[in-house]
Amino acid sequence: MWGGRFAGGPSAVMQQINASIPVDKRLWREDIAGSKAHAAMLRDRAILSNEDAAAILDGLDSIAAEFERDGVPERLELEDIHMTVESRLAELVGPAAGRLHTARSRNDQVATDFKLWVRRACAEAEAAAAALQHTLVGRAGEHADAIMPGFTHLQVAQPVTLGHHLLAYVEMLGRDRSRLSDALRRMDECPLGAAALAGTGFPVDRHATASALGFAGPTANSLDSVSDRDFALDYLSAAAQCSLHLSRLAEELIVWASPPFGFVSLSDQWSTGSSIMPQKRNPDGAELVRGHSGRILGLLTGLMVTMKGLPLAYSKDMQDDKAPVFEVHDLLMLSLAAMTGMVETTRFRTDRMRAAAVNGFSTATDLADWLVREAGVPFREAHHITGRAVRAAEDRGCDLWDLPLDVLRNIDPRIDQRVYGVLTVEASVASRTSYGGTAPERVREQVARWQALLG
Ligand code: ARG
Repeated sequence: MWGGRFAGGPSAVMQQINASIPVDKRLWREDIAGSKAHAAMLRDRAILSNEDAAAILDGLDSIAAEFERDGVPERLELEDIHMTVESRLAELVGPAAGRLHTARSRNDQVATDFKLWVRRACAEAEAAAAALQHTLVGRAGEHADAIMPGFTHLQVAQPVTLGHHLLAYVEMLGRDRSRLSDALRRMDECPLGAAALAGTGFPVDRHATASALGFAGPTANSLDSVSDRDFALDYLSAAAQCSLHLSRLAEELIVWASPPFGFVSLSDQWSTGSSIMPQKRNPDGAELVRGHSGRILGLLTGLMVTMKGLPLAYSKDMQDDKAPVFEVHDLLMLSLAAMTGMVETTRFRTDRMRAAAVNGFSTATDLADWLVREAGVPFREAHHITGRAVRAAEDRGCDLWDLPLDVLRNIDPRIDQRVYGVLTVEASVASRTSYGGTAPERVREQVARWQALLG
């Protein structure tokens, strides 16, 4: 492509380090779409004759059909997807192919192709996150009043409902989706026509190519257009945040599936066995989701570090932008699909969850609240009184509600029979009716809200 300037070819190793075709061949659809938009615009601006444009457009369609059928050939000497397409075009349509690159550079071409690809990735990830939300909302509806321990410090804190716990992840995924669509909104300017870095002297119509490719308009600064990879980083950071949420859910499934907890039993489809220990049912799927999140966070960091020292405009370092984005997208889509499958098919052992909620004095706060409400005790004092009641129950090896009234009254005479009404886990969750609280009626409202939002 630049044979005029050089007398000799590159060394084999140079060719290898320089070639990006093994990675960027995934951009072939976007590359052909970008070239078609460019060729049609050149024709409409009379920069390209009708005949040449028709040959180029036909040729690009044939290449698309070939790639669809046979895959993209990987010839390292052609370096990247842009030259692979252009060289095939030359074989198909002859000299007209050489006119396609008028008023264009690979710098604006690759920025355009990649942005198109990342836009689609954002939309795909958002749809997959919505599918997981849908599954979680369904399971939350099934378990709107199943009681489980809520934890802080992984110590039993207060009883909550399983539906409420699952809906917490629906909220996180809602924010993940909004980050993805926000990123997408900011990816609405087309770099094509920025050429190498300075713009072009040809009378191009950048608004036409932008709109043909589905962008709101062209980018406003040619240097920025070819230097910017914010769009890729925006996607990676939204993806990293989402994968971090998946990792937390995965971690919970792993803990819950361990026999001492026994809160869930993962389905056969989503478990693996051990080659030595016949009793094992391992949550490998969840562990890999947790592990993939670590890789995704690393890839985000990697591209940030690649970009941070680059002067304007294009440097070849930027060719390293695609591999992390492709890898993150694959890992994220797989993680979302696996998590959806796991949530869909997991059996929640609500009897074990309830038993764990009952065991940890999880309604101690309810006793303190009762003292505040019914006996006018300041909360700090109520907290102290309740602490003594917990100690008494611990000493006797019983639950709070099994303490005889005289024992409770000995601790504080303001306690009366009515206190037993608030000490059960059922009464506790039913009382948490504040907006966003865990009461089954609030959970059902949130399930209905999400069902309406998700359609
Ligand atoms: N394969 C290159 C990349 O992905 C295309 C841009 C090449 N531009 C250049 N000036 N060498 O970044």
